[in-house]
Amino acid sequence: MADHPPIEAYDELDSTNAEARRRAETGEGGPVWISARRQTAGHGRRGRAWSTEAGNLAATLLTTTEVPPAEAAQLSFVAALAACDLADTCLGPGGARLKWPNDVLVHGAKAVGILVESGPRPDGRLWLAVGIGINLAHAPTGTERPATSFAEHMASPPPAPLDALEILASRFEAWRRLWTTQGFAPIAQGWTARAQGLGERCEARLPNRTLTGVAEGLDLDGALRLRLDDGALERITAGDVFFGGA
Ligand code: BTN
Repeated sequence: MADHPPIEAYDELDSTNAEARRRAETGEGGPVWISARRQTAGHGRRGRAWSTEAGNLAATLLTTTEVPPAEAAQLSFVAALAACDLADTCLGPGGARLKWPNDVLVHGAKAVGILVESGPRPDGRLWLAVGIGINLAHAPTGTERPATSFAEHMASPPPAPLDALEILASRFEAWRRLWTTQGFAPIAQGWTARAQGLGERCEARLPNRTLTGVAEGLDLDGALRLRLDDGALERITAGDVFFGGA
């Protein structure tokens, strides 16, 4: 028996996150993984489009939680660790690094994007859609920042999307259990061990301002601790960070 929630695989959807939202809004609570070979309206963080070319993985875990929204958002780090484990399986240990909050980079270019969406349920709990897009076979062109695919760094072909999802879902379940039983600390530790750019200068583009400083590490809740040039400490809870060119 699989050690993860069931997988429902579609040929085509507008977006696996949108499908999870529709299901949640009609009362479905999961847990279930929803995947699609093609997305016609995949979306990313901050309203950006996300393209899913043939051979890439688009999947969303629909689940329900009793923890408050701010804490539930920590599942994005769980997802990043699971995706990094999948990258290790394909590329070898250390083949991928994590960039705050939850991008997975391969040789400095983005290969995985994660988008967690949520909403209230009538019973007071929260539904969560943990969406993960993985460039297994192809990388999009013309992106704002460099993108890559696993295939570009593999000697053999990358796994088929549903085979990759089996690995991803198992690793997600392992990290999720750790989070449920021991809290955010071991997740933060795992993330920090694989993080790119800690201790380096970076630019944090927030919704309404841009800050520069040194990325010191994760706070207890997943915020990025940014030491500004005047010595003040800023907790970054939303936005994008850029180190050097990426
Ligand atoms: C980002 O880096 O901006 C996040 C990208 C998230 C893309 C995935 S693909 C599966 C799921 N369905 C969507 O429409 N988005 C997420």
